Amino acid sequence: MALYPKPAEGSWTEHYPDLGTGVVSFEDCISPEFYADEREAIFKRAWLNVGRVEDVPRNGRYFTKEIEVADTSIIVVRDMRGRIRAFHNLCRHRGNKLLWNDFPGEEVRGSARQFTCKYHAWRYGLDGACTFVQQEGEFFGLDRSDYGLVPVHCEVWAGFVFVNLAKEPAQSLREFLGPMITPLEGYPFDRLTERYDFRADIGCNWKIFSDAFQEYYHVPVLHSQEATPAARPKVTGFEAPYYRLDGPHRLVSISSVPRRLWPADYQYPIEIATRSGLFGPWNEPDLGDDLPGTNPGGVKDWVTDNFQIFPNMEILIMSNGWYYLYRYWPTSYNTHRYEGTLFFPPAERASDRAAQECAVVMFKEFALQDAGMLVGTQQALESRAVQDDFPLNDQELLVRHFHKSVGDWVEDHRNARQEV
Ligand code: FES
Ligand SMILES: [Fe+2]
Repeated sequence: MALYPKPAEGSWTEHYPDLGTGVVSFEDCISPEFYADEREAIFKRAWLNVGRVEDVPRNGRYFTKEIEVADTSIIVVRDMRGRIRAFHNLCRHRGNKLLWNDFPGEEVRGSARQFTCKYHAWRYGLDGACTFVQQEGEFFGLDRSDYGLVPVHCEVWAGFVFVNLAKEPAQSLREFLGPMITPLEGYPFDRLTERYDFRADIGCNWKIFSDAFQEYYHVPVLHSQEATPAARPKVTGFEAPYYRLDGPHRLVSISSVPRRLWPADYQYPIEIATRSGLFGPWNEPDLGDDLPGTNPGGVKDWVTDNFQIFPNMEILIMSNGWYYLYRYWPTSYNTHRYEGTLFFPPAERASDRAAQECAVVMFKEFALQDAGMLVGTQQALESRAVQDDFPLNDQELLVRHFHKSVGDWVEDHRNARQEV
């Protein structure tokens, strides 16, 4: 494989002529009308990752997922035959929300042999069939088999559970993921089961936060402690060595000197004490030599692949045996809920645990640096003092592509609506 396989001629961006190199608009992040169309065009049509198979490890295990952007809540359950299914979280009698505990807007998880509605005790099997109607004889010609839970398309890839809220998805999940993403399915996700979950409500459009993970141009500036000494702000900058686009999905790989080799005065004391940090534990688990699907650009000193799966999911594979998962769930045109999860192999020693926890708190600190600033981006964009004159550089190729992909989906939807 080529090292640093930058295209021989032109920039990365120029190799995708459809994208152009002109200035862009971020109206798609500040327009309530655009958001209304995004909900229909994207979140009710694309495959959306809602969990992992480890969330439903045994028959009868379930969890709910609130998907405000699509105006629904869903139940994901492993039925008594071991099949993972999804349903709208809605009772067929009078529309009560079927599964919730203390607050209807909060997600729940648990184990059940059947689901019983709190209101009039209709019951449903884990395959969605309506199995019991209280005082059934008082209804008028009711056939229970007509009143099963409303199914949601649900498919699993590499242990990631996806749903699709379209009546008929345009593509299967594998077709949708395409040839850049699917080679990852041999990666040992199933061995990285120690999880640390974060979620935060953030005062900016979902794409604005996602943009901050699509380029590393900002890293030496906003996260100066994360940059190698040579790339401290305004010295040489930092450049990711490999970018790739495929359909609506994106990939950026980065390389770096391993953090453990940096001079001690560039480390936090806790990193030295725990032998860990933002890039994860220094002691690498043995996941085997071959990590399928990773580092497709063959970059030297590879440390991370950031696979951005349209619309709102990112898988960041770290070369030292762990990964992050990010998801951005819009809650309005200028707010979203961010979910970040770190996955490690199960800790075998207390020192493994301390190393993982150090990586987790470092992640939180750096994510907050982005999240805090991006609320300011949202506020400033909403002034509309500048509307369509924002320049993007070559390292911001993925930002350009992301907004173009979102715009294309919305435009297709608008065109289809006009035809109707
Ligand atoms: S609404 Fe569920 S049983 Fe009546
Ligand atoms: Fe950042």
